[in-house]
Amino acid sequence: MANVGIMGAGSWGTALALLLHKNGHQVTVWSISEEEVEMLSTKREHVSKLPGVKIPEDMVFTSDLEAAVKGRDFIVLAVPSPFTRSTARKMNPYIPEKQIIVDVAKGIEEDTLMTLSQQIEQEIPQADVAVLSGPSHAEEVGRGLPTSVVIGAKTKKTAEYLQNMFMNEVFRVYTSPDILGMELGGSLKNVIALAAGIADGLGYGDNTKAALITRGIAEIARLGVKAGGKLESFTGLTGIGDLIVTCASVHSRNRKAGYLIGQGMSMQEAMDEVKMVVEGVYSTKAAVKMGEKYGVSLPIIGQVNQVLFENKNPGEAVKDLMLRDSKPEISSLTWEE
Ligand SMILES: NC(=O)c1ccc[n+]([C@@H]2O[C@H](COP(=O)([O-])OP(=O)(O)OC[C@H]3O[C@@H](n4cnc5c(N)ncnc54)[C@H](O)[C@@H]3O)[C@@H](O)[C@H]2O)c1
Repeated sequence: MANVGIMGAGSWGTALALLLHKNGHQVTVWSISEEEVEMLSTKREHVSKLPGVKIPEDMVFTSDLEAAVKGRDFIVLAVPSPFTRSTARKMNPYIPEKQIIVDVAKGIEEDTLMTLSQQIEQEIPQADVAVLSGPSHAEEVGRGLPTSVVIGAKTKKTAEYLQNMFMNEVFRVYTSPDILGMELGGSLKNVIALAAGIADGLGYGDNTKAALITRGIAEIARLGVKAGGKLESFTGLTGIGDLIVTCASVHSRNRKAGYLIGQGMSMQEAMDEVKMVVEGVYSTKAAVKMGEKYGVSLPIIGQVNQVLFENKNPGEAVKDLMLRDSKPEISSLTWEE
């Protein structure tokens, strides 16, 4: 049995706390919000994020960061990506050498273009930082529905240790050494999910969705490989797998925000309506900057950027995508002359 600290008591932090508790570990969950700690401790249910899922009596909730972090076998960092760096900075004084920290959030910092594990490493250089990613909605993990994810770590030893901690009969965990590829896939898919939502909001059909997913992963992989990720990761669970679930699911806040924009709302109105951090909005700006930095063409991401930040009409954006210069699907495939 391991002694685990979970930072962040939103949907994902709570669902993973339940999973790890079910696996027999001792779990302490930290939230920055005292109100949230009080609600979880007394109601034994996350009323707004995971309604109907009971929380065991021996799971501890606290807003005391030091108490949550100190003396843990590993720590799960589950705060939304805009708060990852600030939370890691606050954790630093209590983190010993080689402390395993698993980041489970997804995002790229707009100013620095750093992934979340890179930000955590900068704030807590003494830590052994790993990531968990893949197609995994909290609402389904919380209900114990079969799910497969990937743990990325710097060493096989850490990856296999964490695999063993998280895995059970409804939660299959693979391992990977390609942390960067996993993180880029997990962050950039949120931008394509916004596009898929916009297409749904405009009333388009399955053909449009399939095209967005397929051309979207091509775009993500082109950029991700140039930035240092491994191609195989973009064809796996943390690439195409996560993209499919996010573009298709009723649970995705990025797809939902896109849907509302497709229906005519502004970006701000859509974010207010969804009432949660829509990480794809932040990742869009970062992705556009990365495309410029690495000289990679990002047609779908570029159009999402114009719709979000330049008030471009979504219908016009789709037309512009469809009427770009004609080209082969896969430029490396050629005819024998
Ligand atoms: N929800 C999912 O299904 C899911 C699945 C996989 C990955 N993720 C990723 O996990 C991360 C968290 O997602 P979520 O769904 O739990 O988000 P959420 O919106 O449910 O998280 C909200 C929680 O974040 C914490 N928080 C709010 N403000 C904070 C601050 N200033 N500093 C520190 N903590 C703060 C609070 O505990 C709050 O309840 C995201 O990056 C998301 O992409 C989510």
